[in-house]
Amino acid sequence: MNIDYNETIPNNVDLGDDRRLLRALERWQPAYIDWWKQMGPVESDDLRVYLRTAISVDTDGWAHFDYVHMPEYRWGIFLNPREQDRRIGFGAHKGEPVWTEVPGEYRTELRRLIVTQGDTEPASVEQQRELGRTAPSLYDLRNLYQVNVEEGRHLWAMVYLLHAYFGRDGREEADEMLERHAGDPDRPRILQAFNEQTDDWLSFFMFTYFQDRDGKFQLAALAESGFDPLARTCRFMLTEEAHHMFVGESGVMRVLQRTCELMNEHDTDDVRPYGGIDLVTIQKWMNFHYSICLDLFGSERSTNAANYFSMGLKGRYQESKLDDDHKLDGEQVEIAKVAGDGSTIDRETIAALTAMNLKLRQDYTKDSQRGVNRFNKMIAAHGIDFTLTLPDETFNRKIGIFQAIEATPEGRIISGEEWAKRRHEWLPTAEDQAFVRSLMKPVTEPGKMASWVAPPKRGIHGQPIDFEYVQFH
Ligand SMILES: [Fe+2]
Ligand SMILES: [Fe+2]
Repeated sequence: MNIDYNETIPNNVDLGDDRRLLRALERWQPAYIDWWKQMGPVESDDLRVYLRTAISVDTDGWAHFDYVHMPEYRWGIFLNPREQDRRIGFGAHKGEPVWTEVPGEYRTELRRLIVTQGDTEPASVEQQRELGRTAPSLYDLRNLYQVNVEEGRHLWAMVYLLHAYFGRDGREEADEMLERHAGDPDRPRILQAFNEQTDDWLSFFMFTYFQDRDGKFQLAALAESGFDPLARTCRFMLTEEAHHMFVGESGVMRVLQRTCELMNEHDTDDVRPYGGIDLVTIQKWMNFHYSICLDLFGSERSTNAANYFSMGLKGRYQESKLDDDHKLDGEQVEIAKVAGDGSTIDRETIAALTAMNLKLRQDYTKDSQRGVNRFNKMIAAHGIDFTLTLPDETFNRKIGIFQAIEATPEGRIISGEEWAKRRHEWLPTAEDQAFVRSLMKPVTEPGKMASWVAPPKRGIHGQPIDFEYVQFH
């Protein structure tokens, strides 16, 4: 099915048949456009950008590529088709038919899950809004805007659910999505990693590698939901999310490639004088982004998470492939525990149901490590002896078991004093940030790249690398 783009809000959910819902969304739309203009990408109003737009949910050909005048991008509402006879796959209701309406007894929990996910989408657009000024190439500028418009669409996806299924309080929640802002001291975004700044492109590539991957795992867990409209929405969002992580992985890879080339060319580890980003600095950026993303999964031990699972609202990553009863009553798992005076880490046994956040986070870590292995292969292929590593789960944590302690990236517990003295070895310092920012000079000639990043392997949608991905006139 193709979507009628003459409609105010392109959709595959028969919006036209539900006048009340359509009117509610049409009332929200101008507020969204205002938000996009005020909080979205700076100086983008006059640009024409070669963008992908979702036009259906068919696996082949769901996207259309063409120049779009940015403010006229069509943010639509798309759900994957309903599966015949789909059943709830886990929790107390396992085996029952999925819900097509909100189950009254779980309304609050379900709304909280949707709001928390929805809030991250516009947050990332806000965090990235300044980056358009300093893109290292037209290709990258286009990718930034592609990610931004799709995060905007993900907000639409969640707002649709709130409007369609939660009545008045859903509409209020939808309004508040545009009232909280990333980093706003009075009304910040819900999750801390979405209040941090993303004001250089190394941060953007790390963000799309780590934060968007958190997005993938949260969406995958919600895609298992017994609340069918949420599952179907998230399944389609995951299709788009894959490109965001591609931008992250290929972005970090291109930075590394350039760094390695400069190291070999000048026979030095210190590539800063040659306009490159040294490996130690890249490792620091990785330490920062990965550790704040671990916090996004919440406390290792969580009754909320146990409830979401038992209620059938939020499953595990690839729930159906897991080899257990999908209920976990009476099951136990071992988790870490900070012991005694905070100087050692012990293990303790807890109910598996309460360790849902930890399980999702462990799957996230495995997935993150796979790309890091590819980074390391690239470094090794240049004959350079350096290994990028994900820091230990104890490093730089503000949420959960390890918030009480300080630890090195290797996971050795250290005193607060030592942490204060040595954190500059592991996390970006003001000087590091100033240096990386000093490299951020816009490159707008088609096919040209900034000094610190290698060109991509290929262009977008079969176009050459020197294609004019963004037109400024
Ligand atoms: Fe998203
Ligand atoms: Fe994303």
